[in-house]
Amino acid sequence: MGKATAELAVGLGARVTLASRNQEKLHAVASAIDGDVSVAAVDTTDEARVKAWAAGLGQVDHLVISASSAAHGAFSDLPTGDLRAMLEAKFIGPYVTVREVLPYLSEGGSISLFSGVLSRRPSAGATGLGAVNAAVEALAKGLAQELAGKVRVNCISPGMVATEAYADMPEEAREGMYAQIGGSLPVGRVGQAHEIAQAVIMAMTNGFLTGSVLDVDGGHLVRG
Ligand SMILES: NC(=O)c1ccc[n+]([C@@H]2O[C@H](COP(=O)([O-])OP(=O)(O)OC[C@H]3O[C@@H](n4cnc5c(N)ncnc54)[C@H](OP(=O)(O)O)[C@@H]3O)[C@@H](O)[C@H]2O)c1
Repeated sequence: MGKATAELAVGLGARVTLASRNQEKLHAVASAIDGDVSVAAVDTTDEARVKAWAAGLGQVDHLVISASSAAHGAFSDLPTGDLRAMLEAKFIGPYVTVREVLPYLSEGGSISLFSGVLSRRPSAGATGLGAVNAAVEALAKGLAQELAGKVRVNCISPGMVATEAYADMPEEAREGMYAQIGGSLPVGRVGQAHEIAQAVIMAMTNGFLTGSVLDVDGGHLVRG
C-alpha cells in the first residue's frame, strides 16, 4: 500500500521518499516508478536511525506510515515476544517516526497512519493485532488535536487487501482466504493496494479532513 501510494503521489507531481528496511527491495520499487523517487533504509523500530534519517529529510509536506508487522495467534498462545514486536513495528515505530519528522513537516501538511478493520471488528486469533490497531487510531485522533493548526492527522483503516503481507502463505491457502473473506463482503472481493492509496491521497489533500479513521474495507464493518 505504501508503494501504491507513492505511485499515485508521483503521478500527481509529488517528490517521494520511500523508506523501509530492505534497501534492495526499495531500489527495485523505486526503479519501477516513473518519477522523482528517492529511497532510504530505515527501520522504524530503531529510534537512532529514524532520528538521523528525519534530520536529513529537509522540508516534508506529507508523512504516510504504512510500515508494520502483524502477529496472529490465539490469545493464550501468542508469544509475548511476538506481541511486543508487533507493538514496536505497528505503534511505537510510527509514534517515534511522527515525533522525529514533525519538526520538518510543512504547516498545512498531513500525517496518515494505518490501522486496520480488526480494531472495531476483532476476530479470534487476531485479538492482539486488533488492540494495536485501536491504539493507532487513538494516536491519530489525539495527534489531530495536539497538532491542530500545524498539520492534519488521519488514520487509514483497510480491510483485507491483496498485498505482499500475505506473500509467505502458500498460494492455494492465500487465494482461498481471499475468496472466503472477499466473498463475505458487500463488494464480494478483497481490496487492491491502489484502492487504499486513493484514500491516502484524499487524506493528504482534503484540507477539511482531520482526526478521521477512513474505513476502506469493502464493507467489512457492516457485513453480516
Ligand atoms: N494487507 C491487509 O490485508 C491489511 C489489512 C488491514 C490493515 N493492514 C495494514 O495496512 C498497512 C499496510 O499493509 P500492507 O499490506 O501494505 O503491508 P506490507 O505489504 O507487508 O508492507 C509493509 C511494508 O512495511 C515495511 N516495514 C515493515 N516493518 C518495518 C519497519 N520496522 N521499519 C520500516 N519498514 C517496515 C516492509 O518492508 P521491509 O520488510 O523491507 O522493511 C513493507 O514494505 C499496515 O499497517 C497493515 O497492518 C493491512
